[in-house]
Amino acid sequence: MLLAANWKLNKTGREAVHFLNNYAQALPPSDVPTVLLAPFTALPALCDAFEGTKLPRAQLSYGAQNFYFEESGAFTGEVSADMLLEHGCTHVIVGHSERRAIFGESDELLGKKVVRAVEKGLVPIFCIGETLTEREAGQLESVLTRQLDRGLSRLTNEQFLKIVIAYEPVWAIGTGVVATPEQAEAAHQFVRTRLKAMIGESANKLSILYGGSVTPANAYSLMSQPNIDGALVGGASLKVDSLMALHTECVRAAKEKQ
Ligand code: PGA
Repeated sequence: MLLAANWKLNKTGREAVHFLNNYAQALPPSDVPTVLLAPFTALPALCDAFEGTKLPRAQLSYGAQNFYFEESGAFTGEVSADMLLEHGCTHVIVGHSERRAIFGESDELLGKKVVRAVEKGLVPIFCIGETLTEREAGQLESVLTRQLDRGLSRLTNEQFLKIVIAYEPVWAIGTGVVATPEQAEAAHQFVRTRLKAMIGESANKLSILYGGSVTPANAYSLMSQPNIDGALVGGASLKVDSLMALHTECVRAAKEKQ
């Protein structure tokens, strides 16, 4: 079970450090790690502050929300994997639906990012998910299949096991309309089956997170589903109390599943 906080375009370095210190202080030891996915400009401050938390990375770590697959060069406005590693990142989101929809990132580009992240030792949290129009047109499975095939086809079987997948139905992101546990589990089950077709039974070891309007109130029923292995949370991750409550619910669901 993994709890990933997608802060999106929120928090200055100072705010991120304040959050980190309060969260680290309140976080009980558990088997459920938290990853804070911060804006680029907050990473240096998080890197400095992290030294003081004394918490093992297995419990609390941080990363970025995007990067570019090239090492260096004429790519104005972009940030490389090495630049994230320099600031202590362990994870990076790849292909969030806002990157796909607002910034026009294609399946092919995302495929290059996923493989480069793994080569560099960053864990990519690779996001997939359908829009409401696609769901209503009966295209859920074809959309997920396309996103998985094009996004992950460059990975070797060994590299595959170093990624995290996040299923985020676009209609549930930031809308307050959460997928029901049954809807989410059905999609996760489909993703798991598809991953098994790609790499065999070891796909059972892959973490598939659910994202889209997850809150402390609905987290337990979602996280208890057999194929849901954690959460990628936007809005409800911005306050320490709320993320801590989400962590408690994830721990409760994880214990039940053991
Ligand atoms: P939300 O965002 O929790 O605010 O719906 C989730 C995400 O976009 O990752």
